[in-house]
Amino acid sequence: MSECRQILVTSALPYANGSIHLGHMLEYIQTDMWVRFQKLRGNQCLYVCADDAHGSAIMLRAEKEGITPEQLIANVQAEHSADFADFLVEFDNFHSTHAEENRELSTAIYLKLRDTGHIATRSVTQYFDPEKGMFLADRFIKGTCPKCAAEDQYGDNCEKCGATYEPTELKDPKSAISGATPVLKDSKHFFFKLPDFEAMLKQWTRSGTLQESVANKIAEWLDAGLQEWDISRDAPYFGFEIPDEPGKYFYVWLDAPIGYMASFKNLCARRPELDFDAFWSKDSSAELYHFIGKDIVNFHALFWPAMLEGAGYRKPDFVNVHGYVTVNGQKMSKSRGTFIKARTYLEHLNPEYLRYYYASKLGRGVDDIDLNLEDFVQKVNSDLVGKVVNIASRCAGFIHKGNGGVLVAANPEPELWSAFQNAAPGIAEAYEARDFARAMREIMALADHANAWIADQAPWALNKQAGKQAKVQEICALGINLFRQLVILLKPVLPKLAESAEAFLNVAPLTWADLSAPLADHQLNPFNPLMTRIEPARIEAMTEASKEDLAAQATSAAPTGNGELVKEPLATEINFDTFAAVDLRIALIEKCEFVEGADKLLRLTLDIGDAKRNVFSGIKSAYPDPSKLEGRLTLYVANLAPRKMKFGVSEGMVLAAGPGGKEIFLLSPDAGAKPGQRVM
Ligand code: MSP
Ligand code: ZN
Repeated sequence: MSECRQILVTSALPYANGSIHLGHMLEYIQTDMWVRFQKLRGNQCLYVCADDAHGSAIMLRAEKEGITPEQLIANVQAEHSADFADFLVEFDNFHSTHAEENRELSTAIYLKLRDTGHIATRSVTQYFDPEKGMFLADRFIKGTCPKCAAEDQYGDNCEKCGATYEPTELKDPKSAISGATPVLKDSKHFFFKLPDFEAMLKQWTRSGTLQESVANKIAEWLDAGLQEWDISRDAPYFGFEIPDEPGKYFYVWLDAPIGYMASFKNLCARRPELDFDAFWSKDSSAELYHFIGKDIVNFHALFWPAMLEGAGYRKPDFVNVHGYVTVNGQKMSKSRGTFIKARTYLEHLNPEYLRYYYASKLGRGVDDIDLNLEDFVQKVNSDLVGKVVNIASRCAGFIHKGNGGVLVAANPEPELWSAFQNAAPGIAEAYEARDFARAMREIMALADHANAWIADQAPWALNKQAGKQAKVQEICALGINLFRQLVILLKPVLPKLAESAEAFLNVAPLTWADLSAPLADHQLNPFNPLMTRIEPARIEAMTEASKEDLAAQATSAAPTGNGELVKEPLATEINFDTFAAVDLRIALIEKCEFVEGADKLLRLTLDIGDAKRNVFSGIKSAYPDPSKLEGRLTLYVANLAPRKMKFGVSEGMVLAAGPGGKEIFLLSPDAGAKPGQRVM
């Protein structure tokens, strides 16, 4: 193998205000497979990431939940890390942009840019929320569309007619945060002078650093002319203050990509053999790869290389762009149950199914990737279970029964063995070029080849004939060796399956180099099923549970926790009559039980004085032992329209507060209150 390359790899930093979903997972799985391939080849490859923790959305969500932004991002980081780990995404480091390393690097890079004349300042006029005391980003302003007069549209575009406009063109603008009418106000802003880097960018974007379609798109932007980029935001903001400019903060997208460097710096502190400068200095011989989605290309292929250039660092070798995930041919949808969170998937299905399915769909392009759930079941069952695992399960029994589990030294079909040998370099090339779909196609063609040969040899028939037992052992030895080859070739995609196979094969962790020689005269361990088929019922349960996520949010008073704050302005004022229309009562929880097949719900039987009510409530995560709630008083909305759910009809709701998960707190009256009493 060629000499060891040093490669630093990143995925985009997920926002710290929402859960990871299967759309995100495309990117982290894609990157992880590439990193694992590089490691398997013996290269030094380091994969770093972090939560993207800054910005007004995070500040406002923390405020709404009554916690500090620091608490919010710590909670989310724990959730994200668990999701990634369970999807077998193995970061060398997962950090946060709200970290000391990032503050230092962002400050230093900004100062370098400022001191070399690449920062400009000028006054900007923007809508300001006089009640909240803050400037409003476009998505925090709502009003009537200037083109089609649709009400309740965002500050930059109309969802009804598709028009784009300036927030100042909206009719009857309102702050989505406080409901106040915004006023125009001036403020000094800081700009990064992107046009200074036009020549460099024209060259860099055409030097093999981008997929062709991406380079073409960027060329259009470059031809249209570059604009200076606004990198400052006024207080209140959750982020880093700009040096020497009290009350001014770096815009979240300024310090987010620097978070890649900061995460790596944090890793270097833990791993003394790593040298930060060896990876980031201008004359670095290490490689730098970023994996991102198509929506954030401008930040990575224009602003970021320009910032690096201006601050005297090296630029990326490649920015790999992928398309968006659709489910069953459509945008992921909460009502259809196709907005599937990583955790919901993991509660129902094996992560390697999805890793393989994404691999089989991911070519070099930036097209959207459709997760067709029927095709997903069919493909995983037929390829992984029916082709790959099948080879081992067909052969292992004969070796155990016929030869005490010892795999003999034999190569009864040298051509077949050579076909595998000859295919390996092309498969490596496909992985290297991030053409996972091609790699999977070629690997499955080999599996077909092996299965056809075994079927043709029919060891099960031979084994019944006198004097053919040695031949059976030879056939099965080659079968197991071909299976071992497939496991190595698939190891970047299916690391857990590889681990189980290594245990069965009784070998040390396999590497790409192990492809060159077969096992011979080798003791195997007992064979256990390596992977089971997907039951279509699991898919249904998963989509139902994704709908239930919504139900859970609707039946508890907890916030949604999905980062959708921007679409959910604080409730507008109501008059007393509206409030009085809510029939709020004391209820006694008579019975509380699990709901079969529901991940989030508890079934409550309530005594409300003169009647009994059945209520489903999405509070299970906070009350794992439902019997503890029995006998307790709580508050109950008695006149909410009944809601038909999968598990029955829910009659009203009980009240709880908190961000969700373990932190849901059922409300209770003081001692002495009686079931049925109305809340005044
Ligand atoms: N915080 C920024 C990235 C900063 S990088 C310095 C961000 N975060 S994100 O959480 O919105 O997205 C993280 C990554 O997931 C992005 O690359 C984005 O393109 C990708 N995806 C988010 N939704 C996706 C799909 N539905 N499908 C495929 N990828 C998607 O952007
Ligand atoms: Zn409109």
